[in-house]
Amino acid sequence: MKERVTTLISEEALKARVQEIAKEITEFYNGEEVKTVCVLKGAVMFMVDLVKSLDLPVKFDFMDVSSYGNSTESSGNIKILKDLDDPIEGENLLIVEDIIDSGRTLHYLMDYLKSKKPKSVKLCTLFDKPERREFDVHVDWTGFDIPDEFIVGYGLDYAQRYRNLPYIGVLHFDED
Ligand code: IMP
Ligand code: MG
Repeated sequence: MKERVTTLISEEALKARVQEIAKEITEFYNGEEVKTVCVLKGAVMFMVDLVKSLDLPVKFDFMDVSSYGNSTESSGNIKILKDLDDPIEGENLLIVEDIIDSGRTLHYLMDYLKSKKPKSVKLCTLFDKPERREFDVHVDWTGFDIPDEFIVGYGLDYAQRYRNLPYIGVLHFDED
């Protein structure tokens, strides 16, 4: 099987959309401080470009989580590989995610973060595959709704590769 990537969203289109979202988020918080929480590793590129364009006092932190599938662990179906560094009580949290697919990860992550008593929790995702949703997630800002295809680039990977592409591509598998 040979892998082939075709462009879906250009670097310019990504930049333009990130600027638009940053403007909306800036207006929404109206000068209040926010703590952005980047979900590693896929959201790194988005988070970096987004925070540079937020005209607000910003702090940032990082989390790394992995999905447990359907098992019912006490942590609530996600395994926390890296937790937040600092307490979040009383803070305005802005979760920055790369893509929402089934919604499992964010469904449980939002509950976990809300249990730590922040002042507010909002969710911003660059990509959403709404057709694939199995778990309820309220998304506050979405960059692009995308069809049910596997995308790579701008932080998103296939087997840890392609994250460095500056654009978004669709990954195809061709017979040799
Ligand atoms: P969910 O828990 O099913 O919503 O899965 C979300 C996670 O699956 C994302 O944070 C990505 O890591 C991964 N994922 C889902 N769709 C894609 C895709 O098209 N390309 C790359 N990663 C994806
Ligand atoms: Mg992710």
